[in-house]
Amino acid sequence: MGLRNTDEQYGWVTQGLHWAIFVLVAVQVVLGTIGADLPVGMERLITLARHKSLGMTIFALMLARLAWRLVNPAPALPAEMGQVERRAARAVHWLLYALLLTMPVVGWVGSSASNLTVSWFGLFTFPDLVNTDPGLAQLAKAVHRGLAWGLMALVTLHALAALRHHFLLGDNVLARMVPWLPGRRT
Ligand code: HEM
Ligand code: HEM
Repeated sequence: MGLRNTDEQYGWVTQGLHWAIFVLVAVQVVLGTIGADLPVGMERLITLARHKSLGMTIFALMLARLAWRLVNPAPALPAEMGQVERRAARAVHWLLYALLLTMPVVGWVGSSASNLTVSWFGLFTFPDLVNTDPGLAQLAKAVHRGLAWGLMALVTLHALAALRHHFLLGDNVLARMVPWLPGRRT
């Protein structure tokens, strides 16, 4: 398997980014949920600081991933897939990009509006996006939370679809995104 995507297989870069971001997003959702439930205090501040640093990392990785995707077309979907399924698959993929690029920005806006700086693991700080604004901070929190639910629903749908392709349809859709699964020809 090469670095770039081919007609039949996702390359190393796409697969590496896909699974690295999957693990980071799983950790991110846990950190966010724990942090949001903690009472105001040191523990909440530390948990959410880690959440913000990790979230900005996901943002940077998603920008790199989007750039890579734009110059590396995805392998063709199996010929037997119908129009509706194809459109649904593509729509879910682009929605996942949109969500993982929007969520960090909304989180960043919410933090700035709450007058809390966003740093990257204490190494450097990001500029504030907006001035302190308690109303906007509340709105951003609610939107961030709503998007998190949307993301989890979409990822569940996406993962179930991938498993359906592998176990029920028996095509190569899962195999071409998983480094250790031998590619099957359809
Ligand atoms: C893809 C990246 C991200 C995901 C998946 C994510 C997910 C979440 C989740 C699931 C929660 C818990 C929501 C709740 O239960 O109310 C949360 C809370 C939070 N997130 Fe994120 N987040 C991301 C990025 C960011 C970034 C980059 C920032 C800031 C720079 C941020 C700031 C916050 C804050 C401040 C909270 C606590 C909100 C509250 O007090 O209700 N998030 N996030
Ligand atoms: C945070 C969770 C996830 C996100 C954000 C995500 C996102 C994406 C995106 C955007 C693509 C399109 C290819 C690309 O541009 O990279 C893709 C493809 C794929 N994903 Fe995921 N994914 C996630 C989790 C999963 C899980 C848990 C599975 C398996 C159970 C999975 C299986 C696949 C497969 C098989 C493809 C290839 C589909 C095709 O060939 O058209 N993904 N994923």
